[in-house]
Amino acid sequence: MPSTERRGRVERLPQGVDGLVDELYTIKGFFGQWAHFYRHHNLSHPKSVSADYMMYQGVDSNALQPTDATDPAGTPLTLLTGDGVEVSISHRSAPMPFAERNQDFHQIRFYHRGEFTLETECGPLEVGPGDFVTIPKGLIYRETPKGTDNRVLIFGVAEPIVSAMDEMWDTVGFAGHFIDESGMVVPAPIEHPLDTVNVETTVRVKYCGNWETMVYPFDPVRDVVGWVGDPIVGKLNVWDIPGLGSSHGFMPPPTGAVFMAKDKSFFFNVLSVKPFPNEPAPNGSYGPPGHQNDYEEVWFNHASENAPDTDGHVWLMPTSCPHPGLRRPPEYPPNPVRKIRELKLNFDCTAILKFTDEAKKSFMANPQEAIYTSFYGSHIGIDPTDALQHVKH
Ligand SMILES: [Fe+2]
Repeated sequence: MPSTERRGRVERLPQGVDGLVDELYTIKGFFGQWAHFYRHHNLSHPKSVSADYMMYQGVDSNALQPTDATDPAGTPLTLLTGDGVEVSISHRSAPMPFAERNQDFHQIRFYHRGEFTLETECGPLEVGPGDFVTIPKGLIYRETPKGTDNRVLIFGVAEPIVSAMDEMWDTVGFAGHFIDESGMVVPAPIEHPLDTVNVETTVRVKYCGNWETMVYPFDPVRDVVGWVGDPIVGKLNVWDIPGLGSSHGFMPPPTGAVFMAKDKSFFFNVLSVKPFPNEPAPNGSYGPPGHQNDYEEVWFNHASENAPDTDGHVWLMPTSCPHPGLRRPPEYPPNPVRKIRELKLNFDCTAILKFTDEAKKSFMANPQEAIYTSFYGSHIGIDPTDALQHVKH
């Protein structure tokens, strides 16, 4: 819904910055009604809360050890769960001694670090840092690492994954045509010699929350010689997804949305560096406003040249607490133009998510401070110590 109402003291555009705190309130994720508040204080920093799970919280996934890191038959470590959603991390140091099939969830597998061969029934893919691959429910695959320094973040969703551009075409048309989906790598089968196909193969099946097995007298991943149909498996890379912005500053999702559910129960955003605005303050700014909405938000730091120690940090912004924004007056970066390696993933969903007990072991000590040192602050070019001045107790 466009902005049609204006009440009280509104002295600049919602994209700007001045002495007030900006907070964007939205309903139905970013698909419903909204209001932009100009306020004195930051609602993201309560003085106290009755339960820790009400607060946004960060996890350093580098400190977590999934069992598949040391046991080839181990499993990824589940970080977050909710109704129809499961977010996990894998750190596989040896090839899967089985093929795998997830009957519970469609997957977006994001390759944060390391290189793998990912065999699927549609054919093999070579994947590396920044790649993300969709694997639908029930399709068999096998992941083979090429080294031991790797991390794969796995978004599991019960609802089918569809292209955000396709889904939103009728509403935003070419404005959503910013991702070159022709660059999606769709695998083709390799015809393997039959003596390498006719080997007994265990398929580990995730079904009803359990890991079960099925054994075949052949390798079902290498058995397919051809296929026709839709690109049900495809690979894109985050650095090929342009960051969208405006002359005045931040634009909220669904800019950056690559995948979503038809019922809008989740959407998956890739957020690279936004364009630098050319409207000075107070009507222009660089950085997002604070935000309150009715979708849970998962964030993952893939790359930060300003704060590389935060790569691999995972944040949950629950619906129970607004999360802060951080803005500064716009400025032009020095020429020549160069690639800025700052990139986050964002997954928003209607399901209420909770960190697992395993993930809680690497909680950041003080989330109200860590959200600036791990998540904002230096990520958008503001010194973390300056950013911390926004923490009010
Ligand atoms: Fe948000």
